[in-house]
Amino acid sequence: MQRIFLVILIATSLLAQHAKDDEAAKHPFMGDPARIEAGRKAYLGGCAGCHGPEGGGGRGPSIIDRAAWHPMTDDNLYATIQKGVGIMPAANLPTDRGWELVAFVRSLTSPAVEIKAPGDPALGETLFNSSCNNCHRIGGKGGFAGPDLSNIGRTSTLPKLRRSILDPDYERTPGFHRAALTMRTGEKLTGLVKDRTNYNLQLQLRDGSLRSIPVNTVESLEITEATTMPRDYQTKLSKDDITNLVSFLRQQGAK
Ligand code: HEC
Ligand code: HEC
Repeated sequence: MQRIFLVILIATSLLAQHAKDDEAAKHPFMGDPARIEAGRKAYLGGCAGCHGPEGGGGRGPSIIDRAAWHPMTDDNLYATIQKGVGIMPAANLPTDRGWELVAFVRSLTSPAVEIKAPGDPALGETLFNSSCNNCHRIGGKGGFAGPDLSNIGRTSTLPKLRRSILDPDYERTPGFHRAALTMRTGEKLTGLVKDRTNYNLQLQLRDGSLRSIPVNTVESLEITEATTMPRDYQTKLSKDDITNLVSFLRQQGAK
């Protein structure tokens, strides 16, 4: 769990760093939904066979992971795609087609808040307030069962936001495992395990308060592996609902 947490922190700070580098002179296609969509189509035809339909890798490397460890400027990305590298063939496309691919590849790894997205954020907010905020907080309002999403537009990417909603088991967030405890005194407690050492457990109770529990006062401890986030949004929500939710969430953390 420790290791996963570290990886997330590092990837997030690289995203932030990379955002700064990019501010200098951005090609006008960057973050433009129509160009990103055109790039996505070209990508599915010419690149997905090696890099996977969502960039996660396959026969070739994951361009998402590589971008986190090995950030490239937009110009370098353009040159790599056009000229090829190692066994990757040169794309040799007209300039605009090449930049559309760069815009698409960037949309996979840039903070969501930097990429314009389709959808109606106001409708997304209404849906969020009726279906999600009993577990998630934004701006201090909402429940504690899931992560605070006040800054999720900066810490997540557009594809990751969609995946978080449609496939919540794909990438777990540390600190949200449910536990049921029976204390030596007979008292029973349930909550989320925020931290755990050999001696101590940090349990977050339903009301959000934290309780520090010495392990030697615990009689039995049962931890549930599965996430509490519902897994049926793919069927329960419409395509438009998901698009609207993502367009609302991507704005969280914008200044
Ligand atoms: C035949 C398989 C193949 C195809 C097709 C292919 N790639 Fe690659 N790609 C690779 C391999 C292998 C690498 C790693 C090359 C290396 O570093 O030696 C790579 C590297 C990359 C990188 C990362 C460069 C870096 O160093 O971080 C990007 C971005 C990329 N490809 C994008 C694309 C795009 C966009 C397309 C479609 C126009 C594409 N690739 C088509 C195999 C492929
Ligand atoms: C029953 C509680 C619950 C409900 C309802 C719920 N979630 Fe979640 N959500 C969670 C938990 C718990 C996690 C952390 C995932 C894990 O278990 O590792 C999570 C994770 C997420 C993440 C990823 C957060 C991150 O740090 O990357 C997003 C985004 C998200 N939820 C959005 C939503 C949206 C949108 C809805 C409503 C359509 C929703 N959730 C409804 C509990 C919930």
